[in-house]
Amino acid sequence: MEEQAAARGPSTGAPGAGPDPGREPEGGPGPDGGAGPRGGGAGRRRLRVGILFGGRSGEHEVSLMSARSVYRAIDRERFEPVPIGITRAGQWILPRDAEALLEAGRGVEPADGVPLAVVPGPEGRRLLVLDGGPGGDGAGAGSSGTGDAGGAGAAGAPGGRWLEPLDVVFPVLHGTFGEDGTVQGLLELAGIPYVGAGVLGSAVGMDKAVMKELFRARGLPVVPFLVVTAARWRREPAAVIDEIEGALGYPCFTKPANLGSSVAIRRCRDRRQLEAGLAEAFAYDRKVVVERGVDARELEISVLGNDEPVASLPGEIRPRAEFYTYEAKYTEGGAELIVPASLPPRLVAEMQRLAVAAFQAIDAAGLARVDFFLERATGRLLVNEINTIPGFTALSMYPKLWEAAGLSYRDLITRLIELALERHGERARLRTSYGDGDGADGEGAEAGDHGAGAVGDGTGTAGGAGDPGGPGA
Ligand SMILES: Nc1ncnc2c1ncn2[C@@H]1O[C@H](COP(=O)(O)OP(=O)(O)O)[C@@H](O)[C@H]1O
Ligand SMILES: [Mg+2]
Repeated sequence: MEEQAAARGPSTGAPGAGPDPGREPEGGPGPDGGAGPRGGGAGRRRLRVGILFGGRSGEHEVSLMSARSVYRAIDRERFEPVPIGITRAGQWILPRDAEALLEAGRGVEPADGVPLAVVPGPEGRRLLVLDGGPGGDGAGAGSSGTGDAGGAGAAGAPGGRWLEPLDVVFPVLHGTFGEDGTVQGLLELAGIPYVGAGVLGSAVGMDKAVMKELFRARGLPVVPFLVVTAARWRREPAAVIDEIEGALGYPCFTKPANLGSSVAIRRCRDRRQLEAGLAEAFAYDRKVVVERGVDARELEISVLGNDEPVASLPGEIRPRAEFYTYEAKYTEGGAELIVPASLPPRLVAEMQRLAVAAFQAIDAAGLARVDFFLERATGRLLVNEINTIPGFTALSMYPKLWEAAGLSYRDLITRLIELALERHGERARLRTSYGDGDGADGEGAEAGDHGAGAVGDGTGTAGGAGDPGGPGA
């Protein structure tokens, strides 16, 4: 059928191709525990999946909605979800009642749980529950089903105890301090595999200026744009306006380089609006992207995979507002989502090719949604942006596009976790030292045991359920 053919699109035969969630990841057991009994483990251990939500971003609430959907839908036979909240100020907490917190959707407060610290170091996957902290009474860990114990005061952390290690983290965080490589860096230091792009891909995907320059360098079609720094705007505002008017004209769009959800994005029809738009954008960032405005259909496509990803069919967004504003995005009925978009097959194939190229251009991993403009007057396709942690409620465009290709929301979550483990396993096998014989260093050996083989693996991993004491305790 059409979806299937299109979903394979330009990457036919790539590993883990879209509509086949049951496919085994290369070198690892399939979702049904194809590895068989190994090492005498009694039954299959569920993988502990940290679900990060909230965060220091304007999209805090959006993150809660996405996380609630993930928490509800994740396959509990294979995974044990461990929700971890991040307050607006950036504090990590282990919620006392995660379910209630996610359902309430009001935002994460410090009083909702016990403070939690991520501990970098060679042991990997270590989080410390700071029971001695504000609001801490130790109830958090138990009620969220983490079932760990003891180890109080371990490793020089007064009042702390180790959380049972996480096998993988799903950062369901949008925007700054979540989608931009910062959380990814923290998880790298802690040796925890995670869903989605790494530090570089996340950071590039978040910065519209660098992203577009990279797209352009790869020959991907983008709208004409200019990047202006706050320093230059202060130094020579008249020259900046002249340059924009000469190169782009009106209408043009002003955007803070590192933001999302259309926050502080303005459509400017004349010089007065341009000055106001720049001032507004500079209140949020020291770098502003100004683009030529196009009259276009807005199309989005989902990409899934690591180094050889596949693209879904495109969907279309029809905002009711003048453009796809914050209100249009998050108000009921603010925009119409059409899945799949009605487009000639030639355009669909071209979009899929461009989407995969955009994903690879920024070195993304796991998932990304690539957004396009289809200019009405010319029929030209333009890549607008890539989102490395797209809206992820069950009703969001990213999962809906996969659902249309036969991959359910639940199986999509499973696939993303597998991709995270595959990528981590692959990286862990790389040499990290040079010149000392066989190159078998301790780090690779340690990390390897929660590599791709961990899905459905009955053996448990180092520092698993049987080791709550913590390193050096
Ligand atoms: N160059 C442009 N021409 C026309 N509309 C645009 C342009 N840039 C942005 N828009 C409108 O603004 C919305 C948000 O811009 P976008 O660059 O996607 O930022 P965000 O990361 O906040 O989604 C787009 O979905 C579109 O409706
Ligand atoms: Mg956008």
